[in-house]
Amino acid sequence: MEKFEIKGGEPLGGRISVHGSKNAVLPIMAATLLIRGETVLHNVPALSDVEASAQILRHLGAVVKRDGSTLSINTRDIVNNDIPEEMMREMRSSIIFLGSLVTRCREAFLCPPGGCDIGVRPIDLHISSLKKLGVQITENGSCIHCLAQRLTGSKIFLSFPSVGATENIMIASVLARGKTVIINAAREPEISDLATFLNSCGARIFGAGESTVEIEGVDELYPNAHTVIPDRIVAATYMCAASVAADELIIDDIRPAHLSPVIPVFAEMGCRIYLSGSSLKLVSPSRLKRVKSIKTLPYPGFPTDCQSIVMACLSLARGTSTVIESVFDSRYKHISELRRFGADITVNDRVAVVSGVKELYGANVYSTDLRGGAALVTAALAAKGVSTVGGLEHIDRGYEALENNLKKIGASIERKNYE
Ligand code: UD1
Repeated sequence: MEKFEIKGGEPLGGRISVHGSKNAVLPIMAATLLIRGETVLHNVPALSDVEASAQILRHLGAVVKRDGSTLSINTRDIVNNDIPEEMMREMRSSIIFLGSLVTRCREAFLCPPGGCDIGVRPIDLHISSLKKLGVQITENGSCIHCLAQRLTGSKIFLSFPSVGATENIMIASVLARGKTVIINAAREPEISDLATFLNSCGARIFGAGESTVEIEGVDELYPNAHTVIPDRIVAATYMCAASVAADELIIDDIRPAHLSPVIPVFAEMGCRIYLSGSSLKLVSPSRLKRVKSIKTLPYPGFPTDCQSIVMACLSLARGTSTVIESVFDSRYKHISELRRFGADITVNDRVAVVSGVKELYGANVYSTDLRGGAALVTAALAAKGVSTVGGLEHIDRGYEALENNLKKIGASIERKNYE
């Protein structure tokens, strides 16, 4: 079993670059099924979730090739219309193939995506929305059978601005007959990137990034090239690492606007942030200050994906902070592991109270989800002594060569095999 071995307390500094966004590239990869030809994607991170998507596309008949951070996907010959269970379970966001596969093949067989470690992740909004567009869906527990002729535009109200459901609707409606309106759509930057990509291929999507998105169906999309946006959660992770383990750090290849929900939190913790073009410099105080309260919300609120990582920072802050997780119902699995470092955190339902301690101490911990894993690495970088962090398969889903990147800025971190 692989683990990171991290010697904490090494001062970090210098510059670090942010790779392309996982959550942006995954729906774009699924959307390539709508196009008959070769799509070229630049700034694609080498992550296990991206590879899992590529495997699904290959199974369906696409030719997927990687050259550095460029991925070419040729979807001219799609020969299968099912996604095998093991592929669906490999990656939870595999449900994003629902809209594109049924649009392309008229009939599709999928399984429910794998179980989850951050709470129940129902797909009811995906299913009901696709039904509104004319897809006949039957579920029998282990199989989702979708049948449709050309989909028909519709007005769809989302009871919650689900990122995945908004993406699935957008993908399914670009080639539908007539107009689709999504009300209470998710507004995340990854939604806008998907729209930018699809519009560059001939789609007519208006208002992506706002609560109401309109899609006028077109008859055909044509292949194009697209550069994926930088990963705002990776950028925030580096900001967290800097805030507890660096005097200052420059983070390159960011979109400052995408970090606007997190920058005020770092400012409240006492960090100074300087923005210049696509770079950000974070200067940290000698000790972080507590924040009064953080509540995770859909964009442009504070991202749930940053909750655990910022909590690792708050565990070292002066004073007591309150964190409220409102997006997922069970996203606190990292807390018991943070306590092993000496963090003082209590939880009551969705509210965590973090009483900052002066020091954390090296510990042997295990991540059970992607961002929780990043939180443990952050704590280990700041902790006194040596830590091991297991469960790297979760971290590798969203961070490309994390240890190499952290080493470049001075971290003492090694990936080791423990039998
Ligand atoms: C995406 C991101 C994930 C992020 C999350 C919230 C990707 C690949 N993943 O996940 O990193 O944490 O957005 O920003 O982009 N819900 C339902 N029914 C549904 C769909 C969702 O009840 O059909 C609920 C979920 O259980 C959750 C909330 O809506 O409580 C948000 O989920 P959603 O926005 O759909 O997240 P994902 O798209 O799965």
